[in-house]
Amino acid sequence: MDKKVCIDDKCIGCGLCVKDCPSLAIKIENNRAIVIKENCIMCGHCVAICPTEAVSIEGYDMSEVEEIDGNISLSSEELLHKLKGLRSIRHFKDQAVDDDIVKNIIEAGRYSSTAKNSQAVRYIVLKDQITSYENMVLPIFQKLQKFLAVFGNNYIKDFDFSQGFLFKDAPVVILVVAEHHLDAGLAAKAMELMADSYGLGSLYVGFFTYVANFSRKIKRKLSIGRKEKIVACLAVGYPDIKYKRTVPRNKAKISWM
Ligand SMILES: Cc1cc2nc3c(=O)[nH]c(=O)nc-3n(C[C@H](O)[C@H](O)[C@H](O)COP(=O)(O)O)c2cc1C
Repeated sequence: MDKKVCIDDKCIGCGLCVKDCPSLAIKIENNRAIVIKENCIMCGHCVAICPTEAVSIEGYDMSEVEEIDGNISLSSEELLHKLKGLRSIRHFKDQAVDDDIVKNIIEAGRYSSTAKNSQAVRYIVLKDQITSYENMVLPIFQKLQKFLAVFGNNYIKDFDFSQGFLFKDAPVVILVVAEHHLDAGLAAKAMELMADSYGLGSLYVGFFTYVANFSRKIKRKLSIGRKEKIVACLAVGYPDIKYKRTVPRNKAKISWM
């Protein structure tokens, strides 16, 4: 359904929506905000900022809009500590993840920023077919391993490309699909954090995305379009491992100009 910004009688003409609209789509006329451009990016800032709830957007489910709870806050120290402590999880418990939790993880992706608010990111959840996809990819790595060994490339020489190598027997794998990488990447990071909030661990499985994006057969089986890419593949499950501390990292390379 096409979307349309609507401003009702509750408008007090304060102009906050005009000031915050990135599309320059609203102006004040006779002490009321009016829409002057129908084809804005539908980012919803006008809805979010209006002090009198006068703005809605037809075509969105407005019942999903929540009042911001200003009392929820995480200190900078807590947030940074949380981010530093997030690890790639490669050992999962044999425990299912509830579908409602998976849906909420995807919600975190859905609310992430996208360029021009395109919201052109979609998600494919693998549960029953994880092994089947793993079996399509592993033989390719087994062949590649032999091939690269001939040229003395040793990076993957010792990997055991047998069942479980890719997804580490995680109960759920979420593919984040988009044309624009950053859109999907931002969604994936939010999803990783959301998964963590449920006590779940995640692993980005680049070995899978790399091959899957090259394989017409896999893309066809996943119903992924020609322009679309699997940008992130997140294996998700309850961690069977506990880390006691953060990891060391290179210092940030920062240029102040
Ligand atoms: C895009 C991306 C792809 C990755 N692919 C894999 C993978 O296929 N298999 C794997 O075991 N780890 C994979 N990783 C995990 C990285 O090895 C890991 O992030 C890195 O070693 C740092 O560890 P940390 O995530 O615990 O901080 C991937 C990470 C990223 C960001």
